[in-house]
Amino acid sequence: MPLTIIHTVQEMQALSDSLRMKGKTIACVPTMGYLHDGHASLIKEAVKNHDEVITTIFVNPMQFGPNEDFERYPRDSERDMAIIEASGGSILYYPSVDEMYPPDYQTTISVSNISKRFEGAFRPGHFEGVATVVAKLFGATKPHTAFFGQKDYQQTLIIKQMVKDLNMGINIAIVPTLRESSGLAMSSRNVYLSDEEKKQALVLHSALMAGHSKIQTGTRVRAEIEQVMIDILATCPDFTIQYASVAEAETLETPDIFNKNKDLVLLMAGFLGKTRLIDNILCLSKS
Ligand code: PAJ
Repeated sequence: MPLTIIHTVQEMQALSDSLRMKGKTIACVPTMGYLHDGHASLIKEAVKNHDEVITTIFVNPMQFGPNEDFERYPRDSERDMAIIEASGGSILYYPSVDEMYPPDYQTTISVSNISKRFEGAFRPGHFEGVATVVAKLFGATKPHTAFFGQKDYQQTLIIKQMVKDLNMGINIAIVPTLRESSGLAMSSRNVYLSDEEKKQALVLHSALMAGHSKIQTGTRVRAEIEQVMIDILATCPDFTIQYASVAEAETLETPDIFNKNKDLVLLMAGFLGKTRLIDNILCLSKS
């Protein structure tokens, strides 16, 4: 089946309504395009148990800060369409900025507490932009389930909280981070990295693995776990750390000493040259 491409909210809602009337299950995979195998893994996962998978492509100006890379964010719609089709996606929702944010647009969604830490602290307004656009994409695509990557861990918690708080009635499925064989997490922004920087970027994964090992040895002191990660990141002088932290996986709380029964998440972000990188791994208490 060729990919159905839709540009307007009205047509998207009409198609989703008719699919629902026919009893079809709908999955939504929100993206900003320039798709890679990580995005494809979300689509493939969604295809497994839904009749129709709607991939959305929208580079959302509301989630970029004034000095961030909105203008130069990579775009390649032809290639994206081929990847969606090859992954089994049936529908592409591809609205314009004017369609999403007409001149009289006024509403913003803010998921207050969980948005303040980590990414939110370094990117003010980012998560308001994410929550708002995802709510709008849900309103247009009317999915039963929406798929997100663990790569953006804090984003997944914010979306889950929003869906619960606003009674949206959408299941949120989280897909593990897909990595290059080197360990580098796949990201649309990796295209900004030179070959040399790609090698240097592996320091993030090494630091996460070291933090994970530290926790496995039984340490529950936050400062000790964080120091191990900071020490490894410091071996790459070109990497500027924004945060290298450990938090409770469910709440992102950061007590000085963690309860041994809590699942933890190791989170880090920073700049390699001009490119901002983030990564995380989960440390489950029962593993
Ligand atoms: P984008 O960065 O394009 O990512 C789209 C989805 O793909 C997100 O859920 C993200 O976590 C997931 N993803 C990215 N890299 C991945 C990887 N290596 N493995 C698995 N999944 C990966 O995240 C956004 O767009 C935007 O904030 C969005 C939710 C679309 C709202 O604008």
